[in-house]
This record gives sequence, C-alpha cells and structure tokens, in this order.
Amino acid sequence: MALRHFLTLADLNTDELNQVIQRALELKKMQHQHQVYQPFVGKVMGMIFEKSSTRTRVSFEAGMTQFGGSAIFLSSRDTQLGRGEPIEDSARVISSMLDIVMIRTFGHEIVERFAENSSVPVINALTDDHHPCQLLADIQTFVEHRGSIKGKTVAWIGDGNNMCNSYIEAAHMWGFKLKIASPKGYEPKEKFLAPFSHCVELVDSAEAAATQADLIVTDVWASMGQEEEQKIREKAFADYQVNEKLVEFANPDCLFMHCLPAHRGEEISENMLTHKSSVVWDEAENRLHAQKALVEFLINENLKAN
Ligand code: CP
Ligand code: NVA
Repeated sequence: MALRHFLTLADLNTDELNQVIQRALELKKMQHQHQVYQPFVGKVMGMIFEKSSTRTRVSFEAGMTQFGGSAIFLSSRDTQLGRGEPIEDSARVISSMLDIVMIRTFGHEIVERFAENSSVPVINALTDDHHPCQLLADIQTFVEHRGSIKGKTVAWIGDGNNMCNSYIEAAHMWGFKLKIASPKGYEPKEKFLAPFSHCVELVDSAEAAATQADLIVTDVWASMGQEEEQKIREKAFADYQVNEKLVEFANPDCLFMHCLPAHRGEEISENMLTHKSSVVWDEAENRLHAQKALVEFLINENLKAN
C-alpha cells in the first residue's frame, strides 16, 4: 500500500475524513476527562515552519506529547533548509529519523516535493494554496454545534486565499454548497474553482453570500507573505467585513468561524468574535483534537502498509 500523506483534503476520501472527524470528537472527550491515551510512545513528529504560527505549532506539539510521543520544532531560520539545502535531500534525511512530518511553507509544490521524497507521512500545515488541517477543525466544530454539514450552505466572505481554496475542496468532500464573495481581482484562482462548479458559486456581494447561510467564514485580508499589500487590500476589501449586520442576512442559527488570528476593525467588526453566532474558540481548540485524529490515522495507515 502506498504511503499516505495529507497535502489537501482530497488525500483522504469522504468516509475517511468523516472517520477522522468522529475520532476527533472522541479524543476531545477523552482529553476533557483527563484520560491518558498514549499510543505513540517514542514516536517523533518533525514540525517544519517557514511561516509564523501559534495554533498550528501548539496543537501539533501538545497533541504528540499527549499521545506519549514528542515533536521537534524546525524553523527554516535555524536549519539548513533556510541556507538552500534542497527540499528533496532534506526530506530524505529528516524522514529517515522521524515518524511523521508537518510543514508550513509558501509554495504548495514544496510540500509536494517533500512528500515525494519522504519515507513517512507528510501533513500540510498551510501553504499559499491550502490549509486542510484548519478545515478538519472547522468541520468538527460545525458537527459539534449543528450536526452534519451535508446539504448546508456556507458563505466565504473575503480573500480567495488558501483557506478559501480548502473550503472549495471541503464543499465537494462533505457535500455542502459554498457561496464565495470576494472583491474583484481577489477571487480564488480558476484552477481551484473550475473542478468544483457543482458545489461552489461566486456571488457579487457579502450580503448575497450571507443570505440563508448556515455558516459564515472569513479570514484576514492580507495573508502571510502579503504584508506589503495591506494598505491596498484594506481599500479593496472595505465592503467585505463580517459584522453583526451581515449576520442578519443569514439563517437564524447561522454559525460564524474564523481560523484566527483575526484583525478586529478589518475583516471582522470589533465584537464579532463574541457574537452569539461565533464558535471561534471551539474552532481553535479543535485544531488539537482534529489533528490528533489525523496523526493517529496517518501513523496507523503507515504501520498497516509496512
Ligand atoms: N489558524 C492557524 O493556522 O493559526 P496559526 O497561524 O496560529 O497556526
Ligand atoms: N490566510 C492566512 C491563514 C492564517 C492561518 C494566511 O495564510 O496567513
């Protein structure tokens, strides 16, 4: 059996994704009951970060520790990766010593090249194009609060970025309808949209996307690596703020999510994170449980294969 990776949501089929979500809910319960569950004593995760992180680093590192294993934080600033050692050579060496690797980087092809040369499972912990781990947490959070997301309507308001691309893929994998409202010129790229026209619709205002939505999601206007575009983007995105007024267009039990970090006064209003529709803190916590379920799935699949 081939080595399993998680570079985009489509690396797992829908049944497997749902299995991970159900397991995440179980692991959360166990953790809240202070149960010690250590199936991976002695197993080590490599965590390669070429971009900043709070949630992703803490959740993977805490998750491995809770599982009885450990994690090594590898910043490109302090490793030979940052001095130009080829990703292929790094992948061969790093994977020969570890049991699983997660990477947060810029170009999506970097995680693909790493995975091609890795002897252990590789997890995409965010690239310029995708953020699939966040989607596991988001779907877990929806299921926890509202049950199955199948057949529901989700509104993506804002940048057609990595998070948006993963929502597009999620709409297909989990069978929901995604309405995207992005300013002109900031829509998701055609190559991410085209295969998913059956479940994704571009609309021309935030209000149109929010209308009858069961879930509203947004993200920062300038992602990591786009800091110098901040000012131009603030102008372009001015009509795309998620605020109390916008949520009024949605279904009465609509939820609000944001992967965080959030910029109050930009993509969200000052009090949006504490609005009654907001589940952002559960969403953030669920990174831990969803990724533990993912790590367990990938390590066990790899053990079965060998
Ligand atoms: N949502 C998310 O990935 O957060 P971090 O950048 O803090 O890891
Ligand atoms: N779109 C954001 C997500 C951060 C978790 C970024 O890439 O910076």
